[in-house]
Formats: sequence, structure tokens, C-alpha cells
Amino acid sequence: MSQTKRKILVTNALPYANGPIHLGHMLGYVQADIWVRFQKLRGHECHYMCADDAHGTPIMLKAQQLGIKPEQMIADMQQAHEADFADFHVNFDHYYSTHSPENRELAETIYTRLRDAGHIKTKTIEQLFDPEKSMFLPDRFVKGTCPECGADDQYGDNCDVCGATYAPTELKNPRSVVSGATPELRESEHYFFDLPAFEDMLKAWTRSGSLQDEMANKLNEWFEQGLQRWDISRDAPYFGFEIPDAPGKYFYVWLDAPIGYMSSFKHYCDSTGLANWDDFWQPNSDAEVYHIIGKDIIYFHSLFWPAMLKGADFRQPTNVWAHGFITVNGTKMSKSKGTFIMARTYLDHLNPEYLRYYYAAKLTNRIDDLDLNLTDFAQRVNADLVGKVINIASRCAGFIQKKFNGKLSADVADSALLEDFQKAQDSIATAYEQREFAKAMREIMALADRANQYIADKEPWQLIKQEGAEQEVHDICSLGIHLFRILMVYLTPVVPELAERVQAFLNDRFTWASAQQVLTNHAINPFKALMQRIDMKDIEAMIDASKEQQPATSEAAVATNKHLSEEPIADTIDFDSFAKVDLRVARIANAEHVEGADKLLKLTLDLGGETRQVFAGIKSAYQPEKLIGQLTVMVANLAPRKMRFGVSEGMVLAAGPGGEEIYILNPHNGAEPGMRVM
Ligand code: MSP
Ligand code: ZN
Repeated sequence: MSQTKRKILVTNALPYANGPIHLGHMLGYVQADIWVRFQKLRGHECHYMCADDAHGTPIMLKAQQLGIKPEQMIADMQQAHEADFADFHVNFDHYYSTHSPENRELAETIYTRLRDAGHIKTKTIEQLFDPEKSMFLPDRFVKGTCPECGADDQYGDNCDVCGATYAPTELKNPRSVVSGATPELRESEHYFFDLPAFEDMLKAWTRSGSLQDEMANKLNEWFEQGLQRWDISRDAPYFGFEIPDAPGKYFYVWLDAPIGYMSSFKHYCDSTGLANWDDFWQPNSDAEVYHIIGKDIIYFHSLFWPAMLKGADFRQPTNVWAHGFITVNGTKMSKSKGTFIMARTYLDHLNPEYLRYYYAAKLTNRIDDLDLNLTDFAQRVNADLVGKVINIASRCAGFIQKKFNGKLSADVADSALLEDFQKAQDSIATAYEQREFAKAMREIMALADRANQYIADKEPWQLIKQEGAEQEVHDICSLGIHLFRILMVYLTPVVPELAERVQAFLNDRFTWASAQQVLTNHAINPFKALMQRIDMKDIEAMIDASKEQQPATSEAAVATNKHLSEEPIADTIDFDSFAKVDLRVARIANAEHVEGADKLLKLTLDLGGETRQVFAGIKSAYQPEKLIGQLTVMVANLAPRKMRFGVSEGMVLAAGPGGEEIYILNPHNGAEPGMRVM
């Protein structure tokens, strides 16, 4: 690889600081991590930056709900995020927060430069205001009746039922999701970024041919619709940065979020001295800057962000690379199916490199969605990583150890085969470079097949029984190890920890160039199992644990249980529909903790003749001993649900928002177990 050393900065979209990382998020972080590791392995200067996206109304309100300061909440969340990423071997060079002094300063600089260049305009707009909370309401915090189809309980910006989009002021019977109050229209002066002024520059970028086709198409659609000025201010109360010359006005979270890429890098440069910030961000920089993002946030990254940078006299990104969304078992991740899997839940059950490999095996440089089919996942990982790649080493290592003193031979048994493995490096490198990871994995696995075929043909386990064939066996098995080693060099960006163990086994340090060298006469260490196969049981346990993470009494009864103002009464049903629900008085015959479950109690319910076992998500509110002997009401004909800890055969009725405030129903004295509730 005689290439000049490139200077590269890579970012992945910054996760919001109000929720945990899930397997959907992981796609982008893993994709970027593999690409960065590949560049570093090749010897380029490559820096991978990220941060928590810490501002905005949802974060402010969530902290209020938890009764803590937003600063506290975002600090806790950042710690959890960083631990999840580290355990998935996502190796950021720096992980920061958008709520940082560097980010404040850069946001102010960029805003001031835009303003001084005439790119900021003000305009008074009317917006819905919550008179009880004294705050303006973002669209998502207003609900009401769809003005188009009349569906109730729709968000302020679009209707889930008919798909209409509208302004929150058009909603009928609007109410604030925060307090339940009826919002009022109020005027306020807002600050706008003059996006249309950058149309020519953005069009030129779109036509440059460097963008993904799907992205260029989207941009063209947006140009046709006409670019609009972008509202970049929000009124207090808001968790964010105050606009320097506008007291009580704050930068909208999406203004300072991408600046987080620059400020994370700024902190890294200033604190480590490993790179020079100006070299990367001045307008004529020769460094490369890439942003990896999900398809839902293309607008922000391909329009606002390059325009803002241009207007503030900074360089624009070399490229923005979008990826599709993760589905699980063919559909959107679902809490009730247990496929809304948190990174931590996955890590509790499975090796992170399984998922890294599976994502790599399916990733292209297009914006297609990617399905995590859990059965295919297990088969693919077991067949490829364990069955093909590691198998090569496990078939050869024993002979080297036992018969040849742990030393590789001085000769290469089949130099043509070895050369093919080495020659494949260029096309694998190209695939990595172009983010065609699926192609790279296919090529690597095709080579693995050839290595296994070679060993199967040579049958060293037979040969070893022949007199005088020792040298041949030594050469064959050594070649097997050489081929395995080359494949592991190629796989290092994807499965870095496995590659570490392999390097320890081989007494070696990998660089990308290692694939072109051969370790003849080289001592290796005893072979230990390098990776376990995936056991479907672990996947099932992960799904059960994901189901269990939601309040299990019932999604309806406890999870979303709010006051009438926030959760209006559901649509009318006829009597027959009601009569289908068989509610029974039950005596709690036993109640106990469930080992390993954070939220569940296991209840044995006596229906006066029959008993049912029910797992109820009420642990946060009840001591089990106190429940024993009490009467309550259960849904007796609910389909049984398999959970991680056993089958739940029904549901007890409860009300309340959750936590300590869960209240199970209690019939009056005289009611008997088994009586039907009508
Ligand atoms: N905070 C913004 C990004 C600001 S960047 C300056 C945000 N955060 S997010 O937490 O909602 O998403 C973080 C990343 O995860 C985004 O790239 C988003 O597209 C991606 N994904 C979220 N769910 C995803 C899937 N189900 N599948 C793949 N990627 C997904 O957006
Ligand atoms: Zn509608």
C-alpha cells in the first residue's frame, strides 16, 4: 500500500441524551467504527468523534419528570452511552457532549458570523403556548383531533391514521401533552437562518456526483419544493444555549447539535494535541470530513449543515453518508414483540462481535433498510465466523502444537493458494473503502471456503499416520495457519477483539500490510477456543428480557396510564366487545420476587378452583408479602404470554403512572375468588 497518508475526520450522528442506545442506533456507530478501524489499520490518520446530543425540550421535560437537573440527567446518560459503545468495541477517539463550553463558543461564533453576513432574519410567528406550564409547545407536544379525518389523539404535526400533515394550530380540540391544558396561540419573535440564500451552492454539491444517488434524489425533491428559511430559535424555558444578542431566546437543538462534531474534535485536539483543529476546519482544508447518519436526518445534514458552515466561513463536509434503518425479523422494532432491543440487553446475553459481523455482512453503501433476522443472524455467524474462519485454525493448530513443537514450518506448502489470498487484499480494501462491507465479507468467506477445502483435500489427520509424511503435514498445517491469519487481518476492523485473541495466539501484531508477510519458522501459542457458537437459547432469553423491560402488568394499564386530560377515553365499543373480556375476582395466593427481574413480581392467583401464574410489573410499588391473601381483579382469558421467567397466564388490573405509583384493584368485602366482574 504505497499511499500518501490521509487526514480523515469521521463522525456518527450524536445520540439524544434522553434514552438508552438500542440495536437500531448501533448500526451507524458500528458502520463508522469499522470504516475508521480500516483506515487506521492502513496507517492513515483518522479520528472518530462523537458526543451526546444533550439539548432540547424532550430532554428538559424528561429531567423534570425524573425530578433531577438536566445537567445531572445528561451526565448519567452519557456515562451509560459510553459504556454501551465501549462494550460494543466502538472505539471513539473522543466522546463529548453538546452541552460543553467548546460547543457554546462555536455555536456563538457560527451564529455571529451568519448574522454579520446577513443570513439571520427575524420574524414574529404564532405558536401554541401551554398556559399552565408557561411554555411554547413543540409540535410533538400537542395532541388533538386530526383536521382531515377526525381521528383522535394525533400529534400536532401529522396524523398517524390518514397521514395528513398540518400545523398544530389546525388540530381540533388541541391539548398540551405536558399538562393537559388547552393551548393558546401566542406571538413570539423567532430567528431564522436564510437557507434559500445557499441554494446555488447546495445544488452544485448535489450535482457533483459524490453524493449517494438516493440522497441526491431527495435533495432534488427538496429543491423542487423550494427551500424555506429555517427557524433556529426557541423561547425560554429551554435547555440549550442562549442566543448571544437575544435574551430569553435559545438556539434550537438542531442548530448546535452538528456543531457538536466540531466541538468534540476541538476538545480532543486541545487536550491531546493529536491533531490540529484548524487544519481540518478552515475553508481550504485538505483533510477529509465524513458524517455518517441515519436516513431520517438527511435534511439537517445535507442542507442546513453545509449551508451553515459555508455561511460561517468553515469548510463543508467531504461527504455525508446515510444508512437505512434496522428492522428486526422483518418489521419495525417492537416493544411488545421484544424486538426493541437495548444495547445493554444484547450485551447481557450475546457477544458484541456477533452483531458487528452480522451488520457488516449485510451493509452496503446504499440507504436500504437492513433486517436483523435473528434466526439468520445465528446461522450466519455460526457458519461464517465459527464454522469457516476459526475452523481453519482449529483444524491445524493441534498438529503444530503436538507434533511440531508449536512452530510453523520454514516452507509454504502451496504458494499459489497463498498468493491468491494475498492478491485478494486490494479488492477487499476497495470494498471497505467504499463501505461495501457485505462485499468484503463475501470475498473473505469465499477465501475461507477455499482454505477449508484445501485442508479437507489434504487430510493431514490421515497423512500423519504415514511414515515420512511429517514434513508435508507440517507444511500443510502451517499454510492453514497462514491463510487463517490473512483472513483475520482482513476481518480485524469488524471483529477487533477476536483479532486481538488471534494475535496473542500467533505472537503477532497486525497491520494491513501483515497480509503480505508470512510467518515462517515462527513460534505460536497453544490454540484456545476463540469464539463460541450462538445458542438460540441466548437469543430467546434476550427477547424475553426485552419484553420484560416494559411494564408487564400491561402496556395499557400501567405504562401509559395518565390522567384523563392526557389520555382521553378510548373509542366507544359495543357490549359484546366488552363481554369478550373475562374479568374475575382472584385471591393472591402467593407473591414472590423473580430472580433477575427488575420490575416483576410472580403472583399465584386463586380463582376459586383454578390457579393462574401471572408476572406483573408491580415490583416498584409492592412488597410481595403484603399482597398475599388480598383480593384483586384479573383478566382471566388473556392469551398466555411466554416471558423470560416463565409463562404469564393473564393480567392483574392496575392504575397509575408507574414507579411507586401503581395501584392494583381491590374489590369490596364479600366478593369471592372466581366471581365474574361485569
Ligand atoms: N440527536 C440526533 C442526531 C443529531 S446529529 C448532529 C438524533 N439522535 S437519535 O438518537 O435519534 O439517533 C442517532 C442515530 O441513530 C441517527 O443517525 C439515527 O438515524 C440512528 N437511528 C435511530 N434508530 C435507528 C434504527 N432503527 N436503525 C438505524 N439507525 C437508527 O437523531
Ligand atoms: Zn387524519
